[in-house]
Amino acid sequence: DWNVEHIAYATWADAYVVAPATANMLAKMAHGIADDMLSTQLLATTAPVFVCPAMNSNMYAHPTVQENLSTLRGRGVHVLEPDSGLLACGVEGKGRLPDPQKIMDWVDFHLGKTELLEGKIVIVSAGGTQEAIDPVRYITNRSSGKMGYAVALKAAQAGAKTILVSAPTDLAVPIGVECIIVRSATEMKEAIDSYYDSADAVIMAAAVADYRVAEVADNKIKKQETMTLELVKNPDILASLGDRKEHQKLIGFAAETQDVITYGKEKVRKKNLDMLVANDVSKSNAGFDVDTNEVSFIYPGDQIVNLPNMSKLDVAERIIQALADL
Ligand code: CTP
Repeated sequence: DWNVEHIAYATWADAYVVAPATANMLAKMAHGIADDMLSTQLLATTAPVFVCPAMNSNMYAHPTVQENLSTLRGRGVHVLEPDSGLLACGVEGKGRLPDPQKIMDWVDFHLGKTELLEGKIVIVSAGGTQEAIDPVRYITNRSSGKMGYAVALKAAQAGAKTILVSAPTDLAVPIGVECIIVRSATEMKEAIDSYYDSADAVIMAAAVADYRVAEVADNKIKKQETMTLELVKNPDILASLGDRKEHQKLIGFAAETQDVITYGKEKVRKKNLDMLVANDVSKSNAGFDVDTNEVSFIYPGDQIVNLPNMSKLDVAERIIQALADL
């Protein structure tokens, strides 16, 4: 096709990502200079523009660069702050280009933004709580936190102020999410309780330990031939939220290995939920530590929506859509 090349690209692109964005390119963008292929396209496009400034730390801190960035922000250009560390010029400081995955996650986040939960406050819990035995040991479960982190990401993407109350995991805090790390069920309950009154919804994706050790040893326990730990019941966080529910919507999770729907319906009633996400963790493509999940949504009145197997991110998106509908 014959076409004016810079215009053809500028109208074809769904987004522009300038990574790295040099001080020179930012200045051109801020002042409408169009003297090469990239700066010309950036002037001609109406697609969202993302810039990842990367340069020497003194250059980055220079008032000219900062003013240009603030001009660009004011025009709706998305700016990703550079990372700190060793720079190409050999000095340590702020100015490193973030790694490609971080850049793509950030672009994805903004391109997928909706207003489904705009102005709402959503608490999401995630991960498996750790119940201390002594200073070096604890009891936990197989939860990876992936499902809860995906839900938190999608809640933030839907415009909600999202507070993630998480047991320790290996996962990075999702973009746009405020994260509070807790260990035990007791700590998780305290953190959630402190935000509950102002929250519009709580999504309990955490695998909360049902028991804790009755007496946590002050010192490391020495090995013995046999050993018995006395466990006492932890508070049921979700049930207690259900008991004192006012305007909040409550979504619970249930991991089962049999009779998923029967147990699920019972939990909706017992914990006063608006929806339960039930999954059969005995299936190899669902549940713990895998990236996919196959779930059913169970509502009060026993209405059931079965979803096919899909990625945890897609399940999270469906949960957020369901919450918005509620
Ligand atoms: N949950 C909770 N506090 C607990 C235990 C569970 O808030 N002490 C929450 C989980 O985060 C989940 C839901 O309750 O959202 C269901 O948890 P699950 O362990 O499946 O059900 P239980 O009520 O503990 O029943 P059981 O273990 O007998 O299946």
